[in-house]
Amino acid sequence: MAFNFITAEEAAAMIKDGDTIGLSGFTAPGTPKYIPTAIAERAEKEHAEGRKFKVNIFTGASTSDRADGALSRANAINMRAPYQNVPDLRKRINSHDTHYFDRHLSDMAQETRYGFYGKIDYAIIEAADITPDGEVILGCGVGNAPTYAAMADKIFIELNQKLPHTLLGMHDVYMPADPPYRRAIDIYKPSDRIGSPILKIDPSKVIGIVRTDSYDMVKPFTEPDAVSKQIGSNVVQFLLSEYRKGRIPKEFLPLQSGVGNVANAVLYDLGESTVLPTFQMYTEVIQDAVIELLKKGKCTFASTCSMTFSDKVEEELFGNIDFFHDKILMRPAEISNNPEVIRRLGVIAMNTALEADIFGGVNSTHVLGTKMMNGIGGSGDFTRNAYISIFSCPSVTKGGLISNIVPMVAHADHSEHSVDVLVTDQGIADLRHLDPVERAYSIIENCAHPDYRPLLLDYLKLGKGGQTPHALQAAFAFHNAFNETGDMRNVDFSKFA
Ligand code: COA
Repeated sequence: MAFNFITAEEAAAMIKDGDTIGLSGFTAPGTPKYIPTAIAERAEKEHAEGRKFKVNIFTGASTSDRADGALSRANAINMRAPYQNVPDLRKRINSHDTHYFDRHLSDMAQETRYGFYGKIDYAIIEAADITPDGEVILGCGVGNAPTYAAMADKIFIELNQKLPHTLLGMHDVYMPADPPYRRAIDIYKPSDRIGSPILKIDPSKVIGIVRTDSYDMVKPFTEPDAVSKQIGSNVVQFLLSEYRKGRIPKEFLPLQSGVGNVANAVLYDLGESTVLPTFQMYTEVIQDAVIELLKKGKCTFASTCSMTFSDKVEEELFGNIDFFHDKILMRPAEISNNPEVIRRLGVIAMNTALEADIFGGVNSTHVLGTKMMNGIGGSGDFTRNAYISIFSCPSVTKGGLISNIVPMVAHADHSEHSVDVLVTDQGIADLRHLDPVERAYSIIENCAHPDYRPLLLDYLKLGKGGQTPHALQAAFAFHNAFNETGDMRNVDFSKFA
């Protein structure tokens, strides 16, 4: 079938107010680069002429400034799900210009297929190549591309000339049948393939192909600061001690690691360890640090949803793809984050908290309980099903004005039932087998900043018994003190006694 090559502006002109669009990709890689910006420009023109124009955007996870950023600045997003991390979109979400619903990333594709979110009008899929009969080589991130392409009435392809055809074979595209017909997902080790190297789409749905030519523009990795390094080294110390005690099998177990400085610091330290054996990753995102580990042979295989590499590393990968080809596999988000597989493989999950409470509850999403930061992402998928679930965060934020260890989290994403280990720059609290009061002492002693330890102990004394002795009248006193005085250290528990 002969395809119609069009411009991004021509594609954007076909979109109508209220349409629902599914984007391929996961983080910036794999996310379409030109059409979303053209839709934003179209929205600006429509708004200038007094017409309503907003679309619903479904993705795999966060996107990029060229998608979420441009669309948000144009106030062009009505509904958005699941994860995001762009400041302009965050503002729209917190002011309710954009209706955002935050789902576990492994749920999004199947729930779209279940029909929970209505129909998909357009899928925009980034590709390295497409054949006339609809065989697509995807880019550097998969996300929910298979489901959006299957569900959409119409498809635009962004054919990115930066992406080499040699990416063929680095994807494992698989869409599970929906209940009651779902079968076991046959992944027994991170490198097991269960699907196809290409995404098969219906070519008759492809109404236009836009040529693009751009790297993903992921910010390069920055050297971790001292606090991140300390957290990283504490996480590694914990893993080493578990390994020495034989509580992690001698072959080690696959790792999942979040994004950001701490994750990079942990991976760097793991790479340096002479005690730990080589390891594999079963994760949703791999960053620059993983490339170094693969080159060194310390990490022998990475299953992921996206290769979130800086442009320099992306270039290195493309230039040396033969070396990496059999060491990385990109899967759809519902497989990279699949609870069944995570549980079976015994993945060790390492995620970051905004704040944690003294009983082990974790808030990953809401700053001071009300403002959406990014979303739950894959943290719940991994945490709930991990062999060991580790959360880390700095002990304090904003120069000590905020304690990241609080009496009660102001928004609950992960409950004490799923959080095994808490790590800060101060130390490690291993919460397994501890009752709530023991957990509280362990977290205060090992994880809280010394400035906040006496205050947290004062809070604990206010409790009047019960299995989890919260003093509900004072549970948010830290947050209230910050809101009222700008410093959590000004909390005064005497008024609650
Ligand atoms: N209260 C108020 N503000 C807080 C805070 C707290 N307890 N903790 C952090 N912050 C602020 C920081 O000061 C910083 O503000 P700034 O942007 O003004 O500097 C901001 O929140 C981000 O903090 P930072 O420490 O840089 O966070 P991070 O980059 O390590 O990200 C999460 C932490 C929780 C936001 C991030 O890991 C996330 O989105 N997690 C959920 C998704 C997930 O875990 N996915 C799975 C793995 S990819």
